[in-house]
This record gives sequence, structure tokens and C-alpha cells, in this order.
Amino acid sequence: MTGSSRGIGRAIIERLATTHNCVLHYRSSTSAADEVADALRLGGAQVLAVAADIGSESDIDAMFDAVCDEFGRLDVLVTNAAATKFATLVDTQRRHLERTLAAVVLSYHQMVSRTVPLLRDAGRIVAVSGLDARFAQAGHGALGAAKAALESLTRSWSVELAPRGCTVNAVLPGAIDTDSLDAYFHGDDEARSAMTSGTPLGRLGTPREVADVVAFLCSPAAAYVTGHVLVMDGGASAEGGAWSQFRDLWNS
Ligand SMILES: NC(=O)c1ccc[n+]([C@@H]2O[C@H](COP(=O)([O-])OP(=O)(O)OC[C@H]3O[C@@H](n4cnc5c(N)ncnc54)[C@H](OP(=O)(O)O)[C@@H]3O)[C@@H](O)[C@H]2O)c1
Repeated sequence: MTGSSRGIGRAIIERLATTHNCVLHYRSSTSAADEVADALRLGGAQVLAVAADIGSESDIDAMFDAVCDEFGRLDVLVTNAAATKFATLVDTQRRHLERTLAAVVLSYHQMVSRTVPLLRDAGRIVAVSGLDARFAQAGHGALGAAKAALESLTRSWSVELAPRGCTVNAVLPGAIDTDSLDAYFHGDDEARSAMTSGTPLGRLGTPREVADVVAFLCSPAAAYVTGHVLVMDGGASAEGGAWSQFRDLWNS
């Protein structure tokens, strides 16, 4: 479970730890990771906390070596962590794009490849995508390109792993109330309200709601769902762009 020290990843690991032992991956926030790990252990889960930069091939290999030593097998892989430089494409240099692709696309391929020999038959893989994979979002040019590739890899992995009964899916959240969303808004409350009112359900999503969808994809109820990207965005992509401004014309 990557990127589980904070935000969406933390909610996912808290949800899955009610039924699974867990690998709690993070990059550098050791105290946050320790706090989450301690809480999960109190709940009865066996937890291996591992720091790794998902942009580094050797870090990912070392993480999977540690997972292999500790558990020897995996039931579920959730790839949640992402890293990018948010910028316009004009201000995005080749090295920024290379780092984003390494952290999101190359890491996903490497982690699934390392998971395959450890994964039980009928195991589950879930990747976290984002609306930027499908729509141009300010500052998300590099990350959107990487997430679009991640969705494509998800479809290909799902077909390759289907003979073993394993499923490979992605969840595509809209705006989720996290520290990283706050950082994106730069503390601009008006931008935050515009995002809220521009979402048909009239609110941001919660990390727990993403965790519930991931848990569904990992549950027996989703055994026949594979190669799918499950959109959960409060209706944002159903309506699209500027149309939210005209709701009152027709709803009054
Ligand atoms: N928040 C949203 O509105 C939203 C919407 C759609 C999709 N998403 C996607 O959901 C996922 C989680 O997003 P988030 O907003 O919860 O938090 P985030 O800030 O994107 O990620 C936080 C987690 O990722 C880890 N991480 C960050 N950079 C890393 C790196 N280079 N190597 C390894 N780990 C790294 C962090 O570890 P440390 O704590 O050690 O730094 C932390 O555990 C991302 O894939 C994001 O693109 C988010």
C-alpha cells in the first residue's frame, strides 16, 4: 500500500488493515508513518513500515525484498503515492516529466511486476488515478500524462493477470479533502469554494470515501470487475467544466 502515511493512502490502509496485515509505505514522514503503524498494530494488524522513493528503481526493489522477507506473499497491492512538479507545460522541463513518469508509470510497472510472483490467485491490484488523466487541469500536465499511462497499463495488466483470477483496476477520485489539495489551492478559500460549488454533489470527497471504493474493488463483490477505472468525483466529470454556472437557470 504505497503512500499510506497521509491523506488518501492513510485512509485506505486504515480501511484495509481491518481485514489484512499491511505494508505501510511512505517517503520521508517517519513520525506520521510511525503514528499510523502504531494505531494499526493496536487494531491487531501486523504492519511493516517501509520508506522508499517511488521514483527510484533500487528503492522499490529494496521495499519488495523487505516485503518478501516479512510476508512472503501478497493478497492486495494498492499503488496510491504519486509525485510530480505542478506547473504549466511551458514551465515543465524534460527532467520534471521524466521524474513524474518514473514516480507514477515506471514505478507502477515495477511494483506490479514484483507483486506478480508474490500475489495469491484471485489477488487484487488497485491503482489510484485522477481526473487529470482525462481532463486538462491547471498545473497537472505532467501528472495527467502519467495517470493516463497508468490507466492504460491497468487495462493491459488486467488482461495479463486474468487467467489467475486476479483483478487489476483503478479508482479515479475527483477533488478529495486532503493536505495536498490545500497545497494546490495555495490557501485561496475562494478557489476551494469554487471547487466545492462546481461539484454537482456540492462538496469535496473524503479520503474515507476513496478508501471505501478501494475496499469494494478488493472485496469478493468485485470479483468480476477488472480492467476498470472507477470514477468517484461527486459528478464533476458527468457535468464538465463551465456548465455548473448555469445550474440555477434551470433548477429555480
Ligand atoms: N487529493 C486529491 O484531491 C486527489 C485527487 C485525485 C487523485 N489523487 C491521487 O491520490 C493519491 C494520493 O494523494 P494525496 O492527496 O492523498 O496525497 P499526496 O500528497 O499525493 O501523497 C501522500 C503520500 O505519498 C507519499 N509520497 C509522496 N511523494 C512520494 C515519493 N516520491 N515516493 C514515495 N512516496 C511518496 C507521501 O509520503 P510522505 O508522507 O513520507 O511524504 C504520502 O504517504 C495520489 O496518487 C494523487 O495523485 C488525489
